[in-house]
Amino acid sequence: MTPELQKAWDALRAHHKDVADRRIKTLFHGDRAAAFSAQTEDLKLDYAKTNLDAEGVQLLLDLARAADLEGRRAAMFSGAPINETEGRAVLHTALRNIDGGPVTVDGQDVMGEVRDTLARMEAFAKSVRDGSFTGQGGRITDVINIGIGGSDLGPAMGTLALAPYHDGPRCHFVSNVDPADIAQVLEVCNPETTLVIVASKTFTTIETMTNARTAKAWMSERVSDPAAQFAALSTAEDKTAAFGIDPARVFGFADWVGGRYSMWGPIGLSLMIAVGPRAFRAFLDGGAQMDRHFQAAEGTDNLPLMLALVGIWHNQICGYATRAVLPYDNNLSRLPAYLQQLEMESNGKGVSMDGADLEVHSGPVVWGEPGTNGQHAFYQLIHQGTRVIPCEFLVAARGHRDELHHQHQLLVANCLAQSEALMTGRDLDAARAKVADRFEGDELERQAKHRVFPGNRPSVTLAYPQLTPFRLGQIIALYEHRVFVEGVILGINSFDQWGVELGKELATALQPIVEGADASGKDGSTAGLVGFLRDRGL
Ligand code: F6P
Repeated sequence: MTPELQKAWDALRAHHKDVADRRIKTLFHGDRAAAFSAQTEDLKLDYAKTNLDAEGVQLLLDLARAADLEGRRAAMFSGAPINETEGRAVLHTALRNIDGGPVTVDGQDVMGEVRDTLARMEAFAKSVRDGSFTGQGGRITDVINIGIGGSDLGPAMGTLALAPYHDGPRCHFVSNVDPADIAQVLEVCNPETTLVIVASKTFTTIETMTNARTAKAWMSERVSDPAAQFAALSTAEDKTAAFGIDPARVFGFADWVGGRYSMWGPIGLSLMIAVGPRAFRAFLDGGAQMDRHFQAAEGTDNLPLMLALVGIWHNQICGYATRAVLPYDNNLSRLPAYLQQLEMESNGKGVSMDGADLEVHSGPVVWGEPGTNGQHAFYQLIHQGTRVIPCEFLVAARGHRDELHHQHQLLVANCLAQSEALMTGRDLDAARAKVADRFEGDELERQAKHRVFPGNRPSVTLAYPQLTPFRLGQIIALYEHRVFVEGVILGINSFDQWGVELGKELATALQPIVEGADASGKDGSTAGLVGFLRDRGL
C-alpha cells in the first residue's frame, strides 16, 4: 500500500471513530437529500440514509484518488491487461460500444469482430424467432441454455427481468449438475422443436458439458441429427467443433470478456432470442450509456463511484460484513444471485494485486430477495437483529401492468417505508405508547421492549422510471463499475477467480471414490461421509 493510500484509509477510520455513535436522522438538515444523492436523467441513487457527511464523502473521494481510480479506469477502457494474474485485458465494455469508436487490444481494433459477431447473433436470433430456422419437428418452441455461473446467471436474470418484452420462444436455463435440474426442463420440452444452446466460455466446465451430453442423448432419441439443433457460445471453437456443433451456429468471443461480465455478448444469445435483437440492442445501449457516464461524471455526480464508495464505507470502514440487495421489482428476482457472482467472485480475494496479503477486508457477502417477500421472511433480523446490514433497495416508478398500478403503488410505499423504518426506528417511549392500552407496570415495560426498533440502520435506494431493456443495461453496468471501483480501492484483481479452482480439482479426484474406489486416503470426515452415502445407495 502506498503511503498516500495508507493515509487515506487512516483518515477515514479516524473520521468513522468520531461519527460512529451519531444517529443518521440527525444529519437531515438543509438539502441533504439532494447533496447525498447522485442522479442522471433516469436514475437516482439516494444515499442520504447513511451515516455519511460531507467530510466522510470527501475522505472517500480522496481514497479513490489515492488508489489511482482514474488511472485504472483509463487502463481498463484502453484495453491494457489489467487482469494481471491472467495477462488479459478487461473489455466487456467493448461488447456494448456498438456505436462508439475503436477499442484496441495489442494494437488491434476489436470492434469489427464485436460488430460482426453481434450481426451473426442477430441474424440467428431472428431466424429462430421468425421460424426460418427450424427443428426437425418445425418451428422452435423452446430454447434451453445450458451453462453455469456467468454463462447462466446473466441471461437467466436478464430474461426474467425483461419478461414483459419476451415475445420469442420459451427459454429454460439449466445450470446445476444435479440431474433434477435438466430432467425437469427436458420433461416439458419437445426434442423436435427445441434449440439447445451450450454456453461455456471454456467449453470444459464439467457441469455444463455433462448436461450438454445429456441433452444431446435426449434429443438423439427422437431427432436424426441432434447437433443441428445445437448452438454454442464459447471462446474455444476447437472444442465446440469436437462436440459436433456446426461453426455457423458457434458464437465466439475473446478472453478479454470475463465469465461474469459476459451477458452483453454471445452469452446473451438466449436473452436476445427471448426479447428480440432490437430490445437486446437497447440493453447494450443502456450499458454503453453507463460506461460514458462512469468515464465522464465528476466526483459525487458519478453513480458507480458513489455506489462503490458507500459500499467501502459500510464494509471496510463500518465493518458491516454483508449487504442485502432488495429489488422492489419482482422481475429482478434473480438480480441478487447475479450480483452474488459479480461481486463475490470479483472481490472475494485476500491477496492484493502485488501478491501481498490484503490489509483490509475483501468485498462483502451479498444476498437478497425481492421485496415485499423478504419483509415477511428475514427483515425481522434486519430491523431488530444485533448486526447491522446495509440494505440496497431498487424501485421503479412504474411496473408493466398499468391496470394494476394501484398494486405497484403499494409496492413503492413498502419500499420507501422500509428504508424510513430502518433509519428512524422506534424508541421505547413510542413502543410503550403502542401497547399502553393493553398492558401495565412491569408487563408494559417488557412488552414495550420487544417493540423497540433500534433504527439508525443505513440503506441506499436506486430509483428509476421503469425496468426497460435500456434501463436494465444501465443498472447492470452500474453494478459492474461499482465492483471495479471497489476492487481498485482494495487493490485486488477483480477479474480472476482462482478461488474456485481447488474445489473443482478435488471434485475430479473424488469422482472415482464416489463411484466405488477406495476412500481410505481421504480425511476421516470425508471417508465417513462417503461410507454413509454408499451404505444408503450412492
Ligand atoms: O468456476 C467459475 C467459473 O469459471 C465462472 O467464473 C464462470 O462464469 C463459470 O465458471 C462458467 O465457466 P464457463 O463459461 O467457462 O463454463
